[in-house]
Amino acid sequence: MTHDTTSPAVPTHPAPGTAPGRVAGKVILISGAAQGMGASHARALVAEGARVMIGDLQVEVGTALAEEINAVAGRKAAAFTTLDVTSFEAWTAAVEDTVSTFGALHVLVNNAGIYTPGSVTDATIENWTRTIDIDLTGTFYGMRAAAPELRKNDTSAIINVSSIAGLVGFKNRAAYSAAKWGVLGLTKTSALDFGPDGIRVNSIHPGSVETPLTANLQRGLGQVPAGRAAQVEEISALVLYLASDESRFVSGAGIPIDGGETAGNNLRDDA
Ligand SMILES: NC(=O)c1ccc[n+]([C@@H]2O[C@H](COP(=O)([O-])OP(=O)(O)OC[C@H]3O[C@@H](n4cnc5c(N)ncnc54)[C@H](O)[C@@H]3O)[C@@H](O)[C@H]2O)c1
Repeated sequence: MTHDTTSPAVPTHPAPGTAPGRVAGKVILISGAAQGMGASHARALVAEGARVMIGDLQVEVGTALAEEINAVAGRKAAAFTTLDVTSFEAWTAAVEDTVSTFGALHVLVNNAGIYTPGSVTDATIENWTRTIDIDLTGTFYGMRAAAPELRKNDTSAIINVSSIAGLVGFKNRAAYSAAKWGVLGLTKTSALDFGPDGIRVNSIHPGSVETPLTANLQRGLGQVPAGRAAQVEEISALVLYLASDESRFVSGAGIPIDGGETAGNNLRDDA
């Protein structure tokens, strides 16, 4: 498809069977969406008119979430597909499942991720490999598998979920930080590569968010000017904006969403 790069994208019109809203008519594949932030993104996007494919390892939880979303929406707005982001074949199958279920793919949210602790000397080799495989290679595979479908639309978007550990150094998180910085690099490079195809690529960098991933972490919030962790819905608001055509001139951005945590040193206040 030839893309007119001189004029603004034409807003997407609702397809038959979809609901009005800020992402009306869009079909969105979210990895790791069975729980936590991904589940919140799925709910928020459907509430604004999208149809969402939930990709995750957790079949029962993910299927139940799709049923719950459909019951609330009163339409077939969500479905579940089994996805292990470390397998390119699984990604290809998930994209095919999305297109055969909903007819298109407009937005990919690379959300699946794990956290492992340890400095370069403390982290286990196994945890290093697993974290890079899921958080970084999984994001690369997702973009690679989705790109052929995304290129078919006038306007498409990829939203990669990084972390503030992908914007600044982060104590005791060598593998996680390396993976999340890699996601930022992939995002900026792919914004250049995919721009002519009408695909915007952005990354979001949450700070502390209350999810099952962080439920057992002892986290100091003294560095956060907002003085608290985020609720998942606050992160979904940014995902919704980046998925919608409201952000049609935003690409290659790595956006912190952290209550000011990476703005500077919040601990030194000497006169
Ligand atoms: N919670 C936070 O404070 C925080 C902060 C910054 C960034 N993040 C990032 O946000 C994203 C979501 O985090 P969360 O807190 O909602 O996590 P979570 O643990 O609550 O959910 C992660 C989901 O990913 C799925 N998943 C794990 N490995 C997978 C794989 N190989 N294939 C497919 N799915 C897989 C899990 O089954 C789970 O449903 C992650 O990328 C995480 O690194 C989280």
